[in-house]
Amino acid sequence: MKTSIPSTMKAVVLTKNGAQPEVAIIPVPQPGKGEVLVKMAFSPINPSDLAFLKGGYGIQKPYPVVPGFEGSGTVVKAGNGVLPKLWLGKNVACAASPKLNGCWAEYMVTTAASCVPFSKKISMEQGSMLFVNPMTALAFFDLYRKTPNPSGKTRGIINTAAASALGQMIIRLGKQQNIPVISVVWREKQISLLKNTGAEFVLNSSDPDFDTELKKLAHRLNATVIFDAVGGEMSQKLLSAAPKSSSLFIYGRLSGDTCEILSGELIFTGNHIQGFWLTNWLHEQGMLKTLLNIRKIQSMINTELKTNIHLQFQPEDISEAIETYTGNMSKGKVLLRF
Ligand SMILES: NC(=O)c1ccc[n+]([C@@H]2O[C@H](COP(=O)([O-])OP(=O)(O)OC[C@H]3O[C@@H](n4cnc5c(N)ncnc54)[C@H](OP(=O)(O)O)[C@@H]3O)[C@@H](O)[C@H]2O)c1
Repeated sequence: MKTSIPSTMKAVVLTKNGAQPEVAIIPVPQPGKGEVLVKMAFSPINPSDLAFLKGGYGIQKPYPVVPGFEGSGTVVKAGNGVLPKLWLGKNVACAASPKLNGCWAEYMVTTAASCVPFSKKISMEQGSMLFVNPMTALAFFDLYRKTPNPSGKTRGIINTAAASALGQMIIRLGKQQNIPVISVVWREKQISLLKNTGAEFVLNSSDPDFDTELKKLAHRLNATVIFDAVGGEMSQKLLSAAPKSSSLFIYGRLSGDTCEILSGELIFTGNHIQGFWLTNWLHEQGMLKTLLNIRKIQSMINTELKTNIHLQFQPEDISEAIETYTGNMSKGKVLLRF
């Protein structure tokens, strides 16, 4: 494949945690054994990127660093190995290596195993968001099936921050699988947003009667599998509302507050609480299961696992891009375009 690759490139660079990310000109990296060089097309801003910028994420890298955990692009150079050569010239969804610079640059080196070629039916924009949220949505339904259900009755799911891209995927997968999903949002306007996308059960946590309404609905729908992205006082509210012997999976900390859990209620109810991190879940799955899940995602990326896009920005407008995203996250993803 003949592509002229420059020696330097534009990249968003973070010099220390909490600093303002800025555009810099840095050398184009070279792929090593088992690695590929991807000419980046798009990369979204996700809540995990915001946490990484602040220095509070589960993956830390030495500074200066290029952020961005997922994206799409074209493989333009291959390091040694069969897989890198196989991917050469292909459009791929790519995840950043935990040890190397990330996706917010014109070029990125990552392992060939962190890239997935996708068909022409998938746009470069949707392809850039093929990993994090779609894989998490599949993981949640896998956890749902594996969570013990001694009564054998149909169980519902409760999910918070439900106007999110992930929340909307959970609603669509729930519908597809006949599993009732209670979506908890925090703004009135998000109720109609979700109802318009086909959600049946939506509650607003800012309503004065939220606790009572959630309890009624959770018991009616036997909603004992709970996914919480908010934390703070929300976690205990969910456990108090759900039937006994529920399982709470904490997967986000959007409130920024420490989770409040009443130990007494935990002791006497048979409830279970655990954290969820996609990185750990993927390690537990193994290669074959992950490949099958990637196939599943590709078949649903334009339907159940689609992500709405709000706006696109150039890398030099990174500050405006972050501001636009954090100002109204439910409006859709903000993408960096390279
Ligand atoms: N643990 C994992 O492995 C994993 C994997 C994937 C995703 N996640 C988590 O899943 C969540 C959703 O991700 P996403 O990419 O789908 O998000 P997203 O599309 O960017 O949407 C975020 C949503 O959260 C709402 N929100 C923000 N702060 C909130 C708060 N304090 N209380 C309640 N709602 C709040 C936003 O509402 P506004 O529109 O009003 O801002 C928006 O609806 C995030 O917490 C993310 O970190 C975790």
